[in-house]
Amino acid sequence: MNETLERWSSRRAFILAVTGAAVGLGNIWRFPYITGENGGAVFLLLYVAFVALLGLPVMMAEILIGRAGRRSPMQSLGHLAARAGHSRHWRWLGLFGAFTVFCILSFYSVVSGWSIEFLISAINGDFVGQDAAQVGAGFDAFLADPWRMTFNHTLFLAMTMLVVAAGVTKGLERLNNLLMPLLYLLLLVLAGHAATTDGFGPALAWLFTPDLSAVTPTVLIAAMGHAFFTLAVGACALMAYGAYMPDHQSLPRAAVGVAVLDITVALLAGIAIFSVVFAQGLDPAEGPGLMFVTLPVAFADLPFGAFWLSLFFLLLLLATWTSSINLAEPMVATLQGWGLRRGRAAAVVGVTVWLVGLLSVLSFSSLADVKPLFGMNVFALVTTIPPEVFLPVGGALIAVFAAWVLPEAVSRHALDAGPVGFRMWRTTVRWVSIPLTLVVLISGLI
Ligand code: PHE
Repeated sequence: MNETLERWSSRRAFILAVTGAAVGLGNIWRFPYITGENGGAVFLLLYVAFVALLGLPVMMAEILIGRAGRRSPMQSLGHLAARAGHSRHWRWLGLFGAFTVFCILSFYSVVSGWSIEFLISAINGDFVGQDAAQVGAGFDAFLADPWRMTFNHTLFLAMTMLVVAAGVTKGLERLNNLLMPLLYLLLLVLAGHAATTDGFGPALAWLFTPDLSAVTPTVLIAAMGHAFFTLAVGACALMAYGAYMPDHQSLPRAAVGVAVLDITVALLAGIAIFSVVFAQGLDPAEGPGLMFVTLPVAFADLPFGAFWLSLFFLLLLLATWTSSINLAEPMVATLQGWGLRRGRAAAVVGVTVWLVGLLSVLSFSSLADVKPLFGMNVFALVTTIPPEVFLPVGGALIAVFAAWVLPEAVSRHALDAGPVGFRMWRTTVRWVSIPLTLVVLISGLI
């Protein structure tokens, strides 16, 4: 396939598209519970450090490859490698990325289904007057009902695949860009309101006073994995976006903007959620249900709380909807590259993801104790291994490709950051990002 001539309509459009991929369940659902499970401040500190040292430079590497290749990820990798005198086999990295997003989408859809459930409950006013324990009991009853969960998972995945099949993602992106500031605003109000509650002081202490003696390989690997996950880096998903990046736009500047926004959203969600945790004496390490049992309580004291809670879940669903469309796109594009028509490709991807997603659904009932690997059930496996192992492995390979395989002239042109910016980026990737990723991965494996 030849170079695409399509470009995002403006620099801003490119940044908004990358933000759409980055901001999602990772910030509002995954960040708080993983932080809670990994000791709070020490995790937060490492995660921010990893975003700066690994996430950002590798994000630039990934987008740069797409921009230089101007093709689908597999084709860009194969084409650029061949032109530089390297093996075309590099293209399989694109397939590995598609496999990674496949695993991620299988649980992403299930958890987004939980948001559908909470949206409906919030609209019905079910949470009015409930404390966290009562919300938690309702949530557990929901998790124990595979039929309801399957229904929501099916609904969400159908919503995603229909948009992908129709290829009308542009309109949805526009709606997303219009409404996301409202989600940020709601989070800001929520965090501000948290400052007036008893839980705020302990929450800040828990989030911002790290105890460095608590650093373990588990915490390191969790923090690294989350840095990749939240930025959507390591699965060649952003590479696909790079192909449409306009000429004359500094890549580092765009990437830093996205990362700052991404961390800010996570922090606001964290402050709001942990304030409730400490005010109500909950366990920060409660797990994947953390966001769901705390947010209804966080909104309860606000005037018209039930309304704002409903709006919040609606906006969250929109954010996860666009993220999941981004997750599905690389797989559909790969199948299309193999000659399938778009609608067929979307159907194949949808059905397979749906089936694998059922294993996550059942992980809360009949398959709860079926632990195929590392003593984890399927939901625990798919929420852990792809973010913590596949994304860093993919990210390291992407970084090697951009900083060692590509000729300097090509990567320098695609980074578009001037000679000094380019040297800083390449030195960081070569001597910090790649070795650090490998060291953390290996320490985690041992
Ligand atoms: N970054 C997305 C989120 O935070 C998830 C994602 C991961 C999207 C990997 C694409 C690729 O929700």
